[in-house]
Amino acid sequence: MRTLVRSSIAILSASLLASCGGGGEKKSGNAPPAARGGGSSAASQPAPAPAAPKKPLYERLGGATPIACVCDDFIERVLVNETLNANPRIAEARDRVPKAGLKFQVTALVCQVTGGPEMYTGRSMKDSHAHLGITEREWDALVADFKACLDHFKVPAEEQKELFEIVGSTKKDIVMAPGATPAEVPAGGPESFAAPPNGMKPSLYARLGGVYPIACVVDEFIEVLLVDDILNANPKIKAARDRVPKQGLKFLVTSLVCQVTGGPQKYAGRSMKDSHKDLAIAEEHWNAMAADFKKVLDKFQVPEPEQNELFEIVGSTKADIVTAE
Ligand code: HEM
Repeated sequence: MRTLVRSSIAILSASLLASCGGGGEKKSGNAPPAARGGGSSAASQPAPAPAAPKKPLYERLGGATPIACVCDDFIERVLVNETLNANPRIAEARDRVPKAGLKFQVTALVCQVTGGPEMYTGRSMKDSHAHLGITEREWDALVADFKACLDHFKVPAEEQKELFEIVGSTKKDIVMAPGATPAEVPAGGPESFAAPPNGMKPSLYARLGGVYPIACVVDEFIEVLLVDDILNANPKIKAARDRVPKQGLKFLVTSLVCQVTGGPQKYAGRSMKDSHKDLAIAEEHWNAMAADFKKVLDKFQVPEPEQNELFEIVGSTKADIVTAE
């Protein structure tokens, strides 16, 4: 996990905006929708300039970090929605499918379809929902949660409208036609891995089980790092933690880990050097992070050979990250 480490600390990286504002992604730099103010009075302008072409929705939303915050909150709402949980197929999927993985997948999808550089690599909407027997009423319940979530984050009306158009375009693939029978629960989990050619070893990504288990490990790792006293004793790290939304960090780190272990995902954040240069990270912080990482890998029972490969990847980033005495 070149990624994990990078990430853990990318977490801390300085550029993220307060609350669920801008992320550590390279393309950020726009304020989140809620923070964008109006322009100056039109009456004071001699002649209106031609309207600038509209930025992609991804940029108007502020990039991957605010999108990750919105998706995290949305999934949390949906998971406790009683109308949805009254459907036993949905309730069964909730117990089976780890929410950290679902949050990652939904965030990647939203980033991609709004024009971001990230890539959604999961199943089609049809394939991932055909076994759930979703009704019109359940769809409406989900849409109401989405609206409440967007209002909570003060996403402006124009951006909300575009998001609802995107979500609405998936309805025909998600809601079961009247009288239809739900499909069987897909065997083998949400992700399948092609066998490597000529008896070659599967990628580390495949051996770790793909994006769902990786997202769970990263989720836990970030939570552990955030309460590490050795790391928090460094005021620059602590300040970055207080500023950077963990949801965005989890998304970036998961993308990175997936990419560097051989997954199809694309990490679109800053380099390890750029994201850690102002954090005064010393050997003792590095060692604390590595101990946290080991603890989390043991908790998830990641086998020793895979742990060793992950530590090799993480170790390869040390020179870019540890810059203080
Ligand atoms: C009432 C509506 C919906 C319900 C109840 C629902 C529920 C679920 C559940 C339970 C899963 C996990 C299925 C499994 O692996 O067995 C899932 C997967 C997923 N859903 Fe939905 N969903 C709904 C609508 C949507 C919408 C509108 C979107 C986005 C436009 C969406 C995006 C996704 C994605 C990206 C995955 C992951 C697919 C993968 O990893 O291959 N869902 N959904």
